[in-house]
This record gives sequence, C-alpha cells and structure tokens, in this order.
Amino acid sequence: MTENSPATENTKTVLTGLQPTGVLTIGNYIGAIRNMLEYQKEHKCYYFVADLHSLTVDIEPAVLRKNTLDVYALLLAFGVNPEKSTFFVQSHVSAHAELTWILNCHTQFGEAKRMTQFKDKSKKSPQNVNVGLFDYPVLMAADILLYQPDYVPVGKDQNQHLEIARTIAERFNNKYSPTFTVPEGINPKYGAKVASLSDPTAKMSKSDENKNGSIFLLDTKDEIMRKFKRAVTDSGNEIVYNQTEKPGISNLLTIYSCLSGKSVKEAEKEFSGSSYAQFKDAVGQTVCDFLLPVQQEYARICKEKDYLSSLMRNGAEEAARTAYRTLSKVYRKVGLLSR
Ligand code: TRP
Repeated sequence: MTENSPATENTKTVLTGLQPTGVLTIGNYIGAIRNMLEYQKEHKCYYFVADLHSLTVDIEPAVLRKNTLDVYALLLAFGVNPEKSTFFVQSHVSAHAELTWILNCHTQFGEAKRMTQFKDKSKKSPQNVNVGLFDYPVLMAADILLYQPDYVPVGKDQNQHLEIARTIAERFNNKYSPTFTVPEGINPKYGAKVASLSDPTAKMSKSDENKNGSIFLLDTKDEIMRKFKRAVTDSGNEIVYNQTEKPGISNLLTIYSCLSGKSVKEAEKEFSGSSYAQFKDAVGQTVCDFLLPVQQEYARICKEKDYLSSLMRNGAEEAARTAYRTLSKVYRKVGLLSR
C-alpha cells in the first residue's frame, strides 16, 4: 500500500494510548512511538493521550495538564500525522467514561482483582488504592472497544489488560449480539526494549523515582551526556552484546543501534577497541543528535497554542463520531431507552 492510498475494505484498524503520567523517555520512542509511525503508513490509526488513566495515581493538576500537552506535542513532533490518524485526548471524548460504566456491569469483581498491575501498584502505593486504579483495565477496555480496532499494540505489562478487554468483548457479544470487534495484540515491527541506565535489569520508565536512569525526550544535551557518563556498565572492557553477562553494555548497544539505524553487529565492530567511557560518550552524542530536531519541532509546535488546540478539537470530533456510534448501539442493546 502506498502512503496516500485511501482506506479500503482491507485496511486494518490499529489503536493505542499513551499515559501522560510522566515525561516521555527514549524507551517510549524505541518501544512504542517508532512503531506508531510505522502503523500509520498502512493502517487506520486511533492514537490518544490517556489522561483519564493518569488520574489513578497521585498527580498534581498542573503536572497532568503540562504532561498531556507535552505528550501530544511530542508525538506530533515525531511525525504522528493528524491528517492520517485520529489523534486526540481521551478525556475530550466522554464516551470513554460512559462506556466504562456499562462495561463495569459486565466485568466480574474477581476478574479485575486478578490483574497483576493492580496488585503491584497497590503494593507500591498503599496510601492510594483508589477504585479508579481497580477499574483501570475496564476504562482501557472501553478505550479500545469504542473504536472496533483489529490490532492493539501493547507492551508486555499491558497484555493482561488486553486479554480482559477481549474477554469483556466476547461476553458482551455473546450475551446480546455481535457488537464489538475482538481485538488482537500486535507484535511490533521493532521489538527492542530499553532498560534503565542505572539498573539495566529494570525497564526504563517515565515514572522512575531515579531520574538518572531515564533519558527524557526533553532532556538537555548536558543532562543526556551526564546520564550516559554515569550509566551502569558491566565488568570487563569489551563492547559486545550479551544480555545475561553484560546487561548494561547490551542496553547501550540497543539504544545506539535503534537511534543510529546501524545494526548491533555493526556497532560492536565500530566500537571494538574503544573504552567504555568512549562508547558511552558516543551513545550520548548519538542520542543528542537524534533528539535535537524533534525538540526543535516540539518547541515550534508549543508556541502555536491555537494550532495545537484546533488539532486536539478536530481529533476529538473525529474520534467522537466513531465512539458514539458504538456507544449508542451498546446503550440500545442493554436496554437503555433512547432519548
Ligand atoms: N494502559 C496503557 C499503558 O499504560 C495506556 C492505555 C490506555 C492504552 N488505554 C489504552 C493502551 C488502550 C492501549 C489501548 O501503557
């Protein structure tokens, strides 16, 4: 299919959301955003900023507001194209919250209680185990099912949530009549995972307490170079990829390879004979070179506040058309009177 070919019967629909809980990292780019740009070339895509999900953790209103704008503007800067993809903010389409209620009534307490992310997050923040945190997977199911997508690219940590969305969809379809497409997970074209620079056995995360472990997409050049300088490496002195023996160096090789477009093998060759310090410096430099144009584009977009709001508004209107079509079917099927 070419870049501009119109949607046809065979066009598949892809949907995914990104939470604005923190500032995005190069891990988000390498694991998710890069793939979103690929899907956009041949699929009908729905992309959104999942701001309602971020309310399940303690977050300052001003921080949520800023992060939501940042995630939206950064995705635009990377090349999410609102003319091709429906790109919006979750809370701008109230059907997400409305469908959640209906799906709540079709989800068993026991099913939701089994979600490992709920258990992990409850343990991590025992002072705020709110009902929204418990309901998170049902809101995510609503996000998905409103748009009838064929594929949902999610990371490993979200597989269980996709599974419960499928279960709810099947249950609903069986109880009433076919209403929802039962979505499938999608194996990303680019599957690389990025680990924390301070603990290469843990995932690089936008909500990590230790800010030295993550390279944020809006970090300055100095911050980036400093974080790479301090990155945890392994014993020995050779730059070779070996996930078990050398998780630190392997992680740096992954980052270098993804952002330079060279293969890991090529990178190993390029740095054979280099010291760890030289290698870390080169990776830092590559990351800076990669991020600079994106950061410039981001800064340009942020200055055009009206343009940004109009894109969000159009995206929400476009999304709402599909979402309300599904929602009104659902309301009718469960027996709610039409207005
Ligand atoms: N929970 C997802 C995450 O943290 C974000 C998300 C919200 C999402 N709704 C979604 C992803 C719907 C895919 C589909 O990564």
